Amino acid sequence: MFQKIELPGFDTLCIHAGHTPEQHRAHLTPIYASSTYTFDSAEQGVAVFQGQEEGFIYGRFGNPTIREAEAKIAVLEAFGLHDDDGSELKLTALLHASGMAAITTMLLANLKQGDKIISHQSLYGGTQELLDKILPGLGIENCILDFHDLAAVNTFLNTNAGVKLMYLETPANPTLQCIDIAALCQLAKAHQLIICADNTFATPFLQQPFKYGVDYVMHSTTKFLNGHGTAVGGVLVGRDTAHFRGSVTKTHRLLGGNSNAFEAFLLVNGLRTLGLRMERHCHNAQAIAQFLKQHPLIAQVNYTGLPSHPDFELAARQMKMPAPVLSFELKGGFEAGKQFMNALKLCTNAVSLGTCDTILCHPASTTHVGVPPAARQASGITDGLIRMSVGLENKEDLIRDLENALAELAP
Ligand SMILES: Cc1ncc(COP(=O)(O)O)c(C=O)c1O
Repeated sequence: MFQKIELPGFDTLCIHAGHTPEQHRAHLTPIYASSTYTFDSAEQGVAVFQGQEEGFIYGRFGNPTIREAEAKIAVLEAFGLHDDDGSELKLTALLHASGMAAITTMLLANLKQGDKIISHQSLYGGTQELLDKILPGLGIENCILDFHDLAAVNTFLNTNAGVKLMYLETPANPTLQCIDIAALCQLAKAHQLIICADNTFATPFLQQPFKYGVDYVMHSTTKFLNGHGTAVGGVLVGRDTAHFRGSVTKTHRLLGGNSNAFEAFLLVNGLRTLGLRMERHCHNAQAIAQFLKQHPLIAQVNYTGLPSHPDFELAARQMKMPAPVLSFELKGGFEAGKQFMNALKLCTNAVSLGTCDTILCHPASTTHVGVPPAARQASGITDGLIRMSVGLENKEDLIRDLENALAELAP
């Protein structure tokens, strides 16, 4: 497709990568609403089933719309990266019904009874629960370590047998804590661990974990990759190995957490503007963080673009720009959190992130309302904490909305 263009840029790839012209010359790959695919002959059926001939078989295994989204994401995660032998890095991707389904495929394709995982605090809540509540029933233990303390991680690995996989998420919810992917990969490789990174908050525009040697990247495509809040989805990306094409793909098909043509179509459309959107999201976030930082009713702003953030330098090294999600602490605590959310007129009150519109959420009164206050505080979710996914609106309008809502808080 790119025969005439050498080294196309990221935005060009967002628009064109993964697209194959279809027989009716539709400009965009249509929504292939067909649950199964036909064979010209019994012999062709055998060839397709045995992988000797390219072709689609059954909707749970994929379709042309899904294939386009997968190919596009794989190209973007590999953008500009090379393999150990100097050749262009070749990745492959599997689209799922949700981010959670993508994580489940990765875990079940790589782990068995008796294995251990190492992970860190403040993973996305659903991931944490999956690791802590579902895996033990399968005989797999999740060990939570402080990934900022490399010496402690090394000691743990030297003294504990059976650790197979390292799972990390960076930046992570809601404090935007970052993990040093390069350092952790080095440690993990020295202990022959499989490494999976959740790249949802950063996207390949800001951060490419494969650069540091991870084996898998997963995304909740529900967020910035789709970018418009129109579909729940997930993707698992891995090196194009026999293992990925074989047992990982088999696990995906057998678990049945597949995507569908409509949601893949929405994802492809969203991906086409990923670079443009991320740039604007990030510029807006920087302006908003500066505004919040100087406001007298705000105790703290957690944003990786501020030198006050503990991971400011790491984020600058590892990401192209600071991720466009931030959180801030209202001095007035729980009641101020609720009042503030009620006073917003432009920003959206919802729990997701990564959409064109700016979304705020008060975890203490919503997502974490059932969590005992002490446990909440321990994971950084204080009473007055607000999480903000900065959208694409004019930043002046966003700042005005925040300013007006803050002005309404009871003294
Ligand atoms: C960082 C992160 N990872 C994974 C997930 C799970 O993705 P999904 O909700 O698409 O299953 C989420 C969802 O919010 C998330 O924020």
